[in-house]
Amino acid sequence: MDKYKRIVFFTGAGISVESGIPTYRGAGGVWKDYNYQDYACQEAFSRNPEKVWDFHDQRRALIKSCEPNLAHRIIAKIQLQQPKTCIISQNIDGLHQRAGADRVLELHGSIWRLRSQESSLIVENFETPLKERQCGDNAWWRPDIIWFGDPLNQETINLALSALKKCDLLICIGTSAVVYPAAQMPEIAINNGADTIEINPQRTPISHLFQRCLRDSASQALSSLFPEFAES
Ligand code: APR
Repeated sequence: MDKYKRIVFFTGAGISVESGIPTYRGAGGVWKDYNYQDYACQEAFSRNPEKVWDFHDQRRALIKSCEPNLAHRIIAKIQLQQPKTCIISQNIDGLHQRAGADRVLELHGSIWRLRSQESSLIVENFETPLKERQCGDNAWWRPDIIWFGDPLNQETINLALSALKKCDLLICIGTSAVVYPAAQMPEIAINNGADTIEINPQRTPISHLFQRCLRDSASQALSSLFPEFAES
């Protein structure tokens, strides 16, 4: 692994499973119990903002009670030692940052930020659960999350694409690779000649694109790839 100078870690919900946060799909997945059309799209929020807020307050409380796991910590240590390391995550949970990573491209936003519906105002470090959910007479704060049907932030996409084009190793961890445009991003690194590893206990629709597939949990696979960063 020493030969790689520009690693991109591309992560999904699977990396946080060992912290106790459920995935979205598969057994125990969030979208099994909650229909995303009622909880995770602008139409649902416009219809019933309180219901969508309650759901996100619950999610925030669960995430707050969880700690980053060994996989998050290994990645943070690698980034600290090799500053050209890039973390691109679909996760909104902030666990990479809590493990010590300081540059994370959050493709799908963050549950720890608020966005005003009536202006471009973004608020971080808000008190949770939020007491005043409205930011104007007819306007609401909403989580700064990319819900189904929302466009991704163009600046974040540009930074992610640039990192994927330049990386020498792509390690894709814990994503089912079914949500676009995120699912097609790994291919950019592959087309630009990077070496590639997928870490996922299950096969995914993009598994065939990778040189190596480690069918293991995130922390076990990363510990075997980077034993010098794994803790005893
Ligand atoms: N280690 C690594 N991977 C794991 C582990 C583990 N311990 N446990 C499960 N996985 C894998 C599953 O096999 C699955 O492929 O994690 C993946 C999780 O898939 P999803 O639940 O679909 O999560 P993700 O790909 O991140 O979802 C993408 O969908 O709903 C939207 O916006 C949401 O960002 C999310 C996007």
